[in-house]
This record gives sequence, C-alpha cells and structure tokens, in this order.
Amino acid sequence: MCGILGYIGARNGTPIVHEGLKALSYRGYDSWGIAVQDGASIVIQKGVGDITKTPVIQQHSTKVIGHTRWATHGCVTKENAHPHTNKEKTICTVHNGIIENYAELKTELEQKGYTFASQTDTEVIPHLIDFYIKQGQNFEQAFTTMLGRIEGSYAILCAHDKTPGLMFARKGSPLVLGLGKNEHFISSDIPSFLQHTQTIVHLEDGDYGKISDKIEIYNNGKQITRQPTTAPWDIEIAKKGAYPHFMIKEINEQPLTIRKALNQPAELIKQTALLLQSASTVYLVGCGTSYNACATATYQFSKSGRQTIPILASEFIQHTNFIDNKTAIIAVSQSGETADVLDAVKLAKQKGATIIAIVNVPSSTLARTADVVIPMNSGPELSVISTKTCTSQLAILYTLAFALRAKNTETIAEAADASLHLLRQHSQTMPELAKKMVDAKNIFCIGRNAMSQVAREAALKIKEVSYLHAEGMPAGELKHGSIALIEEGMPVIVFADEETRALTISNAMEVKARGAYVIGVDSKPNPAYDFHIQIPDINGLMPLLAIIPIQLLSYYLAVQRGCDPDKPRNLAKSVTVR
Ligand code: F6R
Repeated sequence: MCGILGYIGARNGTPIVHEGLKALSYRGYDSWGIAVQDGASIVIQKGVGDITKTPVIQQHSTKVIGHTRWATHGCVTKENAHPHTNKEKTICTVHNGIIENYAELKTELEQKGYTFASQTDTEVIPHLIDFYIKQGQNFEQAFTTMLGRIEGSYAILCAHDKTPGLMFARKGSPLVLGLGKNEHFISSDIPSFLQHTQTIVHLEDGDYGKISDKIEIYNNGKQITRQPTTAPWDIEIAKKGAYPHFMIKEINEQPLTIRKALNQPAELIKQTALLLQSASTVYLVGCGTSYNACATATYQFSKSGRQTIPILASEFIQHTNFIDNKTAIIAVSQSGETADVLDAVKLAKQKGATIIAIVNVPSSTLARTADVVIPMNSGPELSVISTKTCTSQLAILYTLAFALRAKNTETIAEAADASLHLLRQHSQTMPELAKKMVDAKNIFCIGRNAMSQVAREAALKIKEVSYLHAEGMPAGELKHGSIALIEEGMPVIVFADEETRALTISNAMEVKARGAYVIGVDSKPNPAYDFHIQIPDINGLMPLLAIIPIQLLSYYLAVQRGCDPDKPRNLAKSVTVR
C-alpha cells in the first residue's frame, strides 16, 4: 500500500513523476504529494484525493520524489499526505510501510523540542535525520543512522536541499530501480517508469544507498552490486488502450492470460506434483480472491486423491503446531507482497516446510522467499480488483491437481478458448442484468462444492467494486439461517454444475418460493432461473469459467452506480499491512 517514486536525471522530472504516480495509484489513492528541488530549496505540493485527477505541476526540476497514499497512521488530510519534512523543509521523505516504533521515536524527538505537523509514523524520519545532521553528521551519514533507529517495514526515499542525489532504503516493502539514459528512477513498482526504461535492478531487503548520476547500493554496511535485468512487461500491457478502465481490459485479457498461466515448463509441474505427493500435509494459503482460488481448487485436488487444506493467510497461525519439514505450502498471491501471506510463509519456513509460490510479480518478496516459484504470467494487473489473476491462479492450481493423476491440461486450454466466447456473449447480457440489480439492497451468491467457493468470489467481486452488499455461501447452508433475509425481488445468484445441479436447484426453488429473483450460472437452463447466464460445460472446469460473467456483472454494476471500478474506496492493490 502506498506508492513511491523518485527521479534523478537530465530531464524535467516533475511531469515524469506526476505521470508515474498515476501508474502507482493502484497502490493507494487517498492523497498524493510531490517534492521537487527548485534551485536551492525544496518545493512541495500535496493534495487529498486521487492524483489522476490533478493537473500537472509546473515546477521544473531534475530531482523529484512523489507519493500516492493509502492511509494507515492518520486520516486522509493534506497534512498527513507525504512527503514529510523537517521544520525547515530542507529534508523530505516519502515512505511505504509502517514504522512500528514511531511512537517512542516521536516522544524522544518531542522531548528534544521537535514538533510534528502530521499524525503519520513517517514524519519521525525527516526529524531524526535533521537531529543527526545537527549533531554534525552529513546527510548520507544521518540517513544511515536514522535507518538504525527505525523498526518495521519500509521503502523510503529521502532528499536534502543541499546534497545532490536521493537516499533510499528497502526493508519489507518493494523498491525497484529503473536505469535510463542519463537518468534513474526508483519506485515501488515498474509500470511507473516503464515508458522510460525497461532496465531494472531489484533491491533486496536491507539494501540502502544513494542514486545520483551513479548508483551506490549498500547492505550490512558493505557496498554491493546488483545485476540489472529487463522488465518482464512492456509498456503496452500497462496501458488501458481502448478500454475505459483497467478492470474491463483485464477481464477481457483472460482467454490469453489463462493460456499463459498454462505455459509452464513440464519439469516444473512434474517436480512440484512429486513434492505435493510426498508431503504429509498440503496447505493452500492466500487472502481475498487468491484465497478463493485456493478454496475452489481444493475440490480438484481431492479428485486427484490429494487432500489439501485451504487456509486464509491471516488465520494461518492456528496451524503452527502441525507444520514441519514434511509440510508443503502453496502460497498464492498476485502481488507476492501481501503481508499476511508473507507472515504465514515465514512461519512455515521456520518450521521447515517447503514453500511453493504461485505469484504474478516475479520480483516480489514471496517469489524470492519460496523454494519453488510458478509464475502466473498474467502481466501487470493494474485494476485494484483481481480478475485475470484469479483465473490464472485457478488454471495453475488445476494444472497441479491434474498432474497428480498424470492428466494433461488440454481441457484447461479448451476452457481458455471457451472464455473468449463467454466474454463476447456476456458483454451484451451483463449490462442488462446489472440494470435489474443496480438498486439491490442485498445479494446472495450460492453454490455447492467448488461452486460454493466461486459464489464467495462472486460476492467479493460485487461488493468491493459496486458497494452493494453481497454474501457468498454454500447453498446447503442457506436453510440454517441466511434464508431469513430473502425477500421479494432479492437477487440470488445460483452457481450449478453437473455434479451439484440437482441439490442446488432445490435450494434455488426454496429462495424462489420466498420471492427471490434467481439468476442461474449454469451450462443448462432451468425453470428455477429467472435469468440464465449460460456457461460452457467443459468437463469439471465450470468453476474456472463461472466467475467470468460475474466479473463482467460486477464491472457493469460499478459503472451504472457511478463507482470507479479501478479504484474502489478504502482499498489498495497490495495489502502490505496486517
Ligand atoms: C480482490 C482482491 C483482493 C486480493 C487480496 C490478495 O479483488 O484483489 O482480495 O486478492 O488482497 O492479494 P494478493 O493476491 O496480491 O496476495
């Protein structure tokens, strides 16, 4: 959460950082701020709201830092927006992460006479640096001393009005360098500078240093070299193209991204399947949509004779006593930076478990921590809402489940092709259905077995993007309480496949009898359905396809309700807080 970006170079960095922050705004869009070196002083501009809606800042500068915020410490105000500075505004900082010992540092600084202009944890950074400079250290030394005082997670950029270059540090929050011609970028994520350079250097935890006309990286007090690589994505994939929003673009990419997810080295899949076979226990761990993909896939693993336990990463701790060196963990994460997932993986690793990561960002902390990495190959997902990576995760999990019984992935490839037709067909029908549901007070999504997990994901999609209340649950559970909420006209989305249809239809009839408007997501029509969303029946793979029309429905509900589908309120793309 939060995006930071710095520029040093020969060009005017102000519009470059302004544009780059727009590409980072998926990481947070409560407020924004930019600091530019203007002659001998630093000039700061900040605003509340989304940076994509602000006009270009005029100052010309070759040294610029910027921030787009997802509030943690302190509410959404201009004062709390980054950059934060010392009193004289000679030192300024942008930060992504949390300074866990900020309260004690703040008290210490206040006792020394420092006053604070914001409620943020970040503001201790410029004051600490200021203190050490006033003790006689130069800016670089003071920055390093400050790093020794702070605890927590951070990606930090820091500028000083009298010192050329920018200081940086990374621990627990992503930070990547972009190496251009006569210019350097440093950012939370690659798309923010992708149009200027594809040559990147991934910084590791504990790295800190300085960027000026050259780059100095240190770790543990020693200067080190990190090899440049080429960014895995080109700029076109990070643009909306003809689509009005990233969400709808990414939904429509799925025929391709499912195929790309299937494009894995045969040996990687074979070895991973062997690992799963020999493990005493296999946990599938993730959060949000990634967890829903895990929970959906467990049914396919069961069919392959491999029991898997899906567990929300934030709840993983309760399984600590059952983890040992025979345990395998499949950690599923688009970003590879979700704090809850990283915590679970760290804990499992300490107990000797083998970590298999299914991850979209190849340079992420998760990818670098895992023993085995299976890349999703989805390309950047820039809408805050996960869509294409959900089906990629499922495609990979299904591939592993199929590999356990030596079944090839042709049917999954068939599903990828079928998704194209599905998208075409329902791009017409979903705006119509959205019109009928646009004012719904409550929506239920129900299904059985794997389809009950698709129902959970469907409800998550609807509520997070349209703010309509939706709840996903196993159809069999309705009668144990939730059916009390059914009233005239309430939409109930029913997911049914060959295995579950008979019983699920009974549940559909029960809600219909109580006035519900029943929407069936099914390969076959049924008199129980007031509205039928037809999906192809590809043997055992309906869960992979069934979510796609509901992604479309959620998108159209958001648009019709005047919500921004790419930036739902209160959310951010990578959840790096606990
Ligand atoms: C929902 C959504 C979130 C994420 C969750 C995990 O659309 O995007 O629920 O799925 O925050 O994120 P990753 O997959 O990056 O670990």
